[in-house]
Amino acid sequence: MGRVRCEVVRPNKLDQLRELNQKIFPILSGPNINDSFYKNFCDEKHGYAVFGLCSDMLAGAVCCLLDKNDGMYIKFIGVISRHRRKGVATQMMATTLEYAESINMHTVYMYVQPDNKAVMAVGRKFGFENVGKTKNDLMILEKVLQQH
Ligand SMILES: CC(C)(COP(=O)(O)OP(=O)(O)OC[C@H]1O[C@@H](n2cnc3c(N)ncnc32)[C@H](O)[C@@H]1OP(=O)(O)O)[C@@H](O)C(=O)NCCC(=O)NCCS
Repeated sequence: MGRVRCEVVRPNKLDQLRELNQKIFPILSGPNINDSFYKNFCDEKHGYAVFGLCSDMLAGAVCCLLDKNDGMYIKFIGVISRHRRKGVATQMMATTLEYAESINMHTVYMYVQPDNKAVMAVGRKFGFENVGKTKNDLMILEKVLQQH
């Protein structure tokens, strides 16, 4: 099993972030999804993004947006199929939660399809709780962080 590590996505890596997300989420290949869609993820005032690498190959990414209530919304968490089940999402989630704590976020949350066993497993592993559902029947998984 390859070595897994994480790297914060800087604005000069937006192209790689876009290409990777298009592979994982084909719905993100539409013509309206250009660099400006990704810009906020790499701007520390508005978001946060981290790559997961497996033996130095780009394997996955987490893209987050910050809200006005000290919440961090995980908009995308994905790993390319051939690199799944190797702990990449685990490492990316640990890095994301560590960052959220370091900037004093109160909560971290994501909206997930209830039948998405993989992302539910990742959420459970990190103590996310099911706190309700969105208008579109997505499950809201939330983790309240320790305050320092
Ligand atoms: C969800 C996803 C990111 C998980 O990535 P991953 O790198 O394979 O996850 P990990 O290897 O870190 O696994 C984390 C835990 O989840 C469990 N898990 C992973 N995939 C699973 C699956 N398909 N079914 C059940 N459990 C699963 C693992 O067993 C592991 O638990 P453990 O450490 O207690 O054994 C990946 O499956 C993915 O990219 N899915 C498609 C994109 C998606 O749906 N994203 C969510 C919506 S934004």
